[in-house]
Amino acid sequence: MSTTNLGGLASAQTVTEDPHLRRGSRGFPLLPGGYGRSTYYTGAPSPYAVRGDGYRVWDDRGRELIDANNNFTSLIHGNAHPEIVEAATKALSEGSSWGIPNLYEWELADLLVSRLPALDQVRFTNSGTEAVMSAIRIARAATGRDKVIVTKGGYHGTSEVALVPGGPSYTRGVPQGVIDDVTAVPLNDTDFLRQAIESAPDAYAAIILDLLPNRAGLLRITEDFVRAARELATRHGVVLIIDEVISLRLGYNGFSGAYGVEPDLLTTGKLIGGGFPVGAVVGLGDLMAEVDPTRKGSLPHGGTFSGNPVSMAAGAVALRLYGPDQVERLTRLGDTAREAANARVADAGWEIRGSGSLLRAVPRGAEKVDEQTQHELWWASYDRGLLGSPANLLSLSTPMDDTVVNDLTERLVDAVLAVAASSRS
Ligand SMILES: Cc1ncc(COP(=O)(O)O)c(C=O)c1O
Repeated sequence: MSTTNLGGLASAQTVTEDPHLRRGSRGFPLLPGGYGRSTYYTGAPSPYAVRGDGYRVWDDRGRELIDANNNFTSLIHGNAHPEIVEAATKALSEGSSWGIPNLYEWELADLLVSRLPALDQVRFTNSGTEAVMSAIRIARAATGRDKVIVTKGGYHGTSEVALVPGGPSYTRGVPQGVIDDVTAVPLNDTDFLRQAIESAPDAYAAIILDLLPNRAGLLRITEDFVRAARELATRHGVVLIIDEVISLRLGYNGFSGAYGVEPDLLTTGKLIGGGFPVGAVVGLGDLMAEVDPTRKGSLPHGGTFSGNPVSMAAGAVALRLYGPDQVERLTRLGDTAREAANARVADAGWEIRGSGSLLRAVPRGAEKVDEQTQHELWWASYDRGLLGSPANLLSLSTPMDDTVVNDLTERLVDAVLAVAASSRS
């Protein structure tokens, strides 16, 4: 029997039996720690999802939850959207994947490039992590340089280069040579960025930026910093990669479109697969030529399931259904929720950050939120029927309307106030 109680909050996390032990047929977890993804971890045995429908999810503890996790922001249309289910089922019934190209890839590529008109071509991957890995490799091959600039605390998946900005606790197992090739620039420190590049102008292959980094508590990258990155990259032949694995949802032309910055390569994933595994590098033709197999000496790039028809078909429907009107509607819903919640949590020393349909509650001014606080807020939210990500990132989905988002906001405020009160006591 295990009993867990985080931070003194009376909570559903108090369980009499550890489901991870119960499920292991030999009396111990069959998955490391009981988890199939480390990113599920919330400090205590997790409930299991049983079913989802629209903006709701039901778990094996009998709870109905407002799903603002949306599989880490992927489910822009919520759970089991009928048109996406239909498209995926049709593709599946035709054969789940093949060893020659399929036409669904063209359709999704066309939809992506029409939203990102400054870019020319797309290469699909199975995840955002792979998209970032591939983009960095393309940049290194094209420039003949090794070094990469990231922002401190930025998250770009779990490839070796991408782990470096997380600091020493993330880089165990990463070779020192990889760490040495990555320069982590403090968020929005334009002088640091300029100095780093100008001190070694021929060393840098790429700058990679997430314009709304979640690990930094959804603190926005300033326009000044982005402009400097674009200008330095152009001047010194560095490839500017904007990582829109999460942020693509924030504008019809992506978040970079909203900023008015044109990347050389853009990485994305999550929503563009309609809930199925996906990633993509979208880029300028001369860079994407690095993975053109008709060119002699091009980079090998594969992935048995890259561009599989189920992800492509579901993703195409998801993108079509997320037109300018829906982008605008979800943005307005998120902005209204943030404003209403901020007015209510300010006195407790918290704030709700984010942009449009992405929200996150953090102690006011924090650039990093400790894991225990994140977990306390996760459970406090769960207790109130609200499902966020373990780092408390909340995302809206198109099945939500004003009534649902008001309800979500109430639950969020209530959870934040409970955590704030418990930290004072
Ligand atoms: C900005 C960013 N880049 C890359 C990734 C990695 O994507 P994936 O989890 O699909 O590998 C993530 C995942 O959350 C992300 O937020």
